[in-house]
Amino acid sequence: MRALLLENLHPLATSILGADGIDVATRGGALDEDELIAALQGVQLLGIRSKTQVTERVLENAPDLVAIGAYCIGTNQIDLGAAAVRGVAAFNAPFSNTRSVVELTLAEIIALTRRLTERDRALHAGIWDKSADGAHEVRGRTLGIVGYGNIGTQLSVLAEALGMSVVFYDSAEKLSLGNARRLESLDELLEVADVVTLHVDGRGGNAGLFGARQFGRMRPGSVFLNLSRGFVVDYAALRDEILTGRIAGAAVDVFPEEPKRRGDPFESDLRGLPNVILTPHVGGSTEEAQEAIGQFVSNKLRDYLAHGSTMLSVNLPNLALDARTGAHRLVHLHRNTPGVLAGINRTLAEHDVNIDAQLLATRGDLGYVVTDVGSGLALELCEELETMDQTIRLRLLS
Ligand SMILES: NC(=O)c1ccc[n+]([C@@H]2O[C@H](COP(=O)([O-])OP(=O)(O)OC[C@H]3O[C@@H](n4cnc5c(N)ncnc54)[C@H](O)[C@@H]3O)[C@@H](O)[C@H]2O)c1
Repeated sequence: MRALLLENLHPLATSILGADGIDVATRGGALDEDELIAALQGVQLLGIRSKTQVTERVLENAPDLVAIGAYCIGTNQIDLGAAAVRGVAAFNAPFSNTRSVVELTLAEIIALTRRLTERDRALHAGIWDKSADGAHEVRGRTLGIVGYGNIGTQLSVLAEALGMSVVFYDSAEKLSLGNARRLESLDELLEVADVVTLHVDGRGGNAGLFGARQFGRMRPGSVFLNLSRGFVVDYAALRDEILTGRIAGAAVDVFPEEPKRRGDPFESDLRGLPNVILTPHVGGSTEEAQEAIGQFVSNKLRDYLAHGSTMLSVNLPNLALDARTGAHRLVHLHRNTPGVLAGINRTLAEHDVNIDAQLLATRGDLGYVVTDVGSGLALELCEELETMDQTIRLRLLS
């Protein structure tokens, strides 16, 4: 087995895969399409971040590829459908940087409520601005969380520990943690929250979710944070509210258009405004998160290779699997049409092979059957399974 890891992944990726006997090659940057195709010959595992584009053409020309690890949150850089129909599993790290985002959010809630960055800037400019005006404790104030997912829920728990009263609005049915209260609508939340923080996901329907109307419904003197996605908020409307002083401050980490490279210039309606904290999409960027991502994705790749486990794969049916119970494990990815399971089992029976354990999962057009068998497997049996009309990929783990 050979792995190619691009884009300076955390060293844990090399050590975890290497410890499993995989021959790991690493490269610093991303590769373009042709370079990637050449580099993938004879390679089973590919590790990337967000810059390497794994297109249909790359997949078509990488016959040895078995799995891709996106060592980040997003997977837009991979043609997931094209990977799935070629039997290439893709994994990412959906929540390895959750805590980092939550900690930055909490730090900013306190900083905005104390007008900390204004005091800091004044003192750096040589002005001793000692005053309690406009500075508050967060204890006893109401935090309104919009989007109660991985980040929203963890923020909810930690904010309560600071003495905040937490309300949330989520478009899906969610369990309230601690004393947090679920509200029925965004408007209801805006009426009561002293701090409004967005943690919704990046689905298309969330474009422009928060604009002049929503800012207009926020309580006078409240503060606003967005560490979710840039396109969710109308920042020109936020600028107007900050300039009138109705919104007392804002922290923004994500923007509709973000510079591509470190050091590139940055333009925004929000630059230079009072009590507005701007950060360059670093909510999830900590060394701890990088390490957690390195570990999480490498473990997923390792478990897929060794046991066929597809748990949390973003493009294959999900099955959580431990080490096999029998001598061999047959891992069969196929087109999801009636009769595939019966066909596999008929073939096994015809070859006198007894099934120790079997699991099936489906996802849209794909089916995934994992079968543990105790006895040896004839070559012809594997060939018969491999040449079934519906077979996409057969792997034998022994
Ligand atoms: N700033 C950063 O560096 C950084 C890092 C990680 C994640 N993020 C972003 O943070 C956001 C949240 O991440 P997560 O892991 O908690 O996601 P998640 O998928 O676990 O949670 C999102 C929640 O938002 C809810 N939701 C979606 N649309 C909604 C709407 N219109 N109104 C109310 N609720 C809605 C969903 O039901 C879900 O519960 C994502 O947009 C992610 O891209 C940013």
